[in-house]
Amino acid sequence: MLKHFLRLTDFHRDDLLAILDLAADLKARQARGEPHRLLEGKSLAMLFEKSSTRTRVSFEVGMCQLGGQALFLSPRDTQIGRGEPVQDTARVLSRYVDAVMIRTFSQDTLETFARFSTVPVINGLTDLLHPCQLLADLLTVAERREGLDDLVVAWVGDGNNMAHSWIHAAQVLGFTLRLACPEGYEPSEEILAPALAAGARVRLAAEPLEAADGAHVVTTDVWASMGQEEEQSEREEAFAGYAVDRQVMAGADPAAIFLHCLPAHRGEEVSEEVLEGPQSAVWDEAENRLHAQKAVLVTLLGEDSAG
Ligand code: CP
Ligand code: NVA
Repeated sequence: MLKHFLRLTDFHRDDLLAILDLAADLKARQARGEPHRLLEGKSLAMLFEKSSTRTRVSFEVGMCQLGGQALFLSPRDTQIGRGEPVQDTARVLSRYVDAVMIRTFSQDTLETFARFSTVPVINGLTDLLHPCQLLADLLTVAERREGLDDLVVAWVGDGNNMAHSWIHAAQVLGFTLRLACPEGYEPSEEILAPALAAGARVRLAAEPLEAADGAHVVTTDVWASMGQEEEQSEREEAFAGYAVDRQVMAGADPAAIFLHCLPAHRGEEVSEEVLEGPQSAVWDEAENRLHAQKAVLVTLLGEDSAG
């Protein structure tokens, strides 16, 4: 059966844990210098309608390490940028490549693409969700502690695509997530309501210190995401008091780690001291994009993925 990777809630807990195990295994094999060309001869098209450093490079290098190849496509030099319908692009690319990774604005565009695609489609970030990043974040957490069951995660800042994917992860995996977001910047009800209805241990906290209290992970993201650049100054006002700084980290568990998907704005959502400090795991987190996405690719495209 054709399987996409569009949102974490499309997967069962065991499926996500299996992807994380595979990611850890692939990381270890790479560290030992052991070839793992599990996708020999396969091609991945990568369609980017927004900027990227980590997603682009980790998918491209990941496909190469797996024995396949990746093609970078941007609207500037493909017909999609001149208005070719997404459903036509999906059907055509499906005839050439074995999978497509898309970074776009609307989740609807991604879902439409997936509906018309006959090969697996991977969400490389939309305005709504960033599930690949969450896999890397969970891998980073799993490397530092046993199991995810009693995990408490604090989200501080915008209720954006990253916050939404954290909610999905908490919903599927069962850990506790507290989100402190300024008024008017809470997560979308489209994401929060179904999670709460499904019994997810997710709640909104009144302020950052309440969210961080005893948490094992403190995480945040930029105040203005891609596409919201013109809201930067109004958001800076609204988000005053919502930075992760020494005081917020001091309220968390003493062994807590700090995560940020990057790029980060030092002195806005996170202080320089926290980002560069001993609790920061952001460079491992960024590296883990590579290993987690290789695991997604092998899961969707590898020999065992058929049927
Ligand atoms: N975290 C992340 O997705 O980074 P890029 O925008 O550089 O891909
Ligand atoms: N929320 C950010 C994440 C960037 C990786 C954005 O969408 O721009």
